[in-house]
Amino acid sequence: MKDFTPVNDVPDLTTSSPSVVTDRRRTSERAGVRCESATWQGRPVFLKTLVFDEPDTRARFEHEGRVACSVQHALIVSPLGRLDQTLVFPFVPGVTLRERLEAGPLAPDEATRVAGGLAAAVAALHACGVTHHDLKPENVILEGSRAEFDAVRVIDFGMSHATRLPLDIHSGARMGTPHFMAPEQFLGVRGDPRSDVYSVGAVLFDCLAGEPPFQDALGWLSGLNDRQVPLPGPRALHGVLARCLSRDRAQRPPSAAALYTELSAARRALGLTPLPDLSDWRGQCR
Ligand SMILES: Nc1ncnc2c1ncn2[C@@H]1O[C@H](COP(=O)(O)OP(=O)(O)OP(=O)(O)O)[C@@H](O)[C@H]1O
Ligand SMILES: [Mg+2]
Repeated sequence: MKDFTPVNDVPDLTTSSPSVVTDRRRTSERAGVRCESATWQGRPVFLKTLVFDEPDTRARFEHEGRVACSVQHALIVSPLGRLDQTLVFPFVPGVTLRERLEAGPLAPDEATRVAGGLAAAVAALHACGVTHHDLKPENVILEGSRAEFDAVRVIDFGMSHATRLPLDIHSGARMGTPHFMAPEQFLGVRGDPRSDVYSVGAVLFDCLAGEPPFQDALGWLSGLNDRQVPLPGPRALHGVLARCLSRDRAQRPPSAAALYTELSAARRALGLTPLPDLSDWRGQCR
C-alpha cells in the first residue's frame, strides 16, 4: 500500500498578512501562466499567476504549487505562499545555468560542484516522494551567478510527480526540450527517480561540453538513433556520465544519492575536494 500522507496546501498569504505587490515586471507568459518579478512586503519576489483559468491549466498550476511547497531544502525554491491565483516565490538573484553556459562550458571543478548541488537537491526531492521530471539548465538558477554547490537553486515543478498527491499530471502539452529527458519519460513512464538521475547526467554533460548529449534527441529517445556520443571532460567523469545516460534505467546509478557518491569519488580521483557530506544537506518533507 502506498503511504498517502497528504501534502499540505500552499499557505494563503491573503489571510495571514496585509499584502501589497509593487514593481511588477512581466518576464514571460506561457501555457496560461504569467511570470513576473515584483516586490511583496518590501522583499523581492517572483510571481507565477494563473491567467487562463481552464480546468487542466488550473489543475497543473495547483499541482505545481503544492509539490514545490512539499519539500523544504536550501537548494530548492519553494513558494512563500499564494495570493489568490498567484504563487509567490522568493526572488533568486543570479543567472540560470542556461544563461551561464551560453558564456561557455564550465571547468570540471565547477561542473561537478553544480552537478553535485543538483544531485543533493534531487536526493531531497526523492526522499519526499517527488520526481522533478524537467531538470535542465533553464530550471536551475545559480544564486549570485556563482557556479558553486551551494548556489544551485532548483525551480519549476510544472512537470513533477508526487507519490503523496493522487493527481498525476502528465503534461504532454508543456513538454519542452527533449534533450534532458530520459528515454522512458518519452514513453510516458512517470515517477521513476532514475529519470531524474538521467537528467542530472545530461546537465553535467552540458556543463562540460557546452551542449547537451544528443543533438537528435527525439531520434535517440525513441530508439531510432543509437549513436553513442563522445563524452566531454576528463576520463575520471566518463564512467558516471555514461551510466547516467544509459537508455536502460537499470544501468544508471540507482538513486540521486548513489549518483552523488559517484560524483564525489570522481572529484577525488581528479585531485579535487570531495563534495560535502550529503547528510548535512537533507531536506524536510511537509
Ligand atoms: N524564484 C525565482 N527567482 C528569479 N527568477 C526566477 C525564479 N523562478 C523562475 N525564474 C526565472 O523565470 C524563468 C521561468 O520560470 P519557470 O521555469 O518556473 O517557469 P516556466 O513554466 O518554465 O515558464 P517559461 O516557459 O516562461 O520558462 C526561469 O527560467 C528563470 O529564469
Ligand atoms: Mg522552466
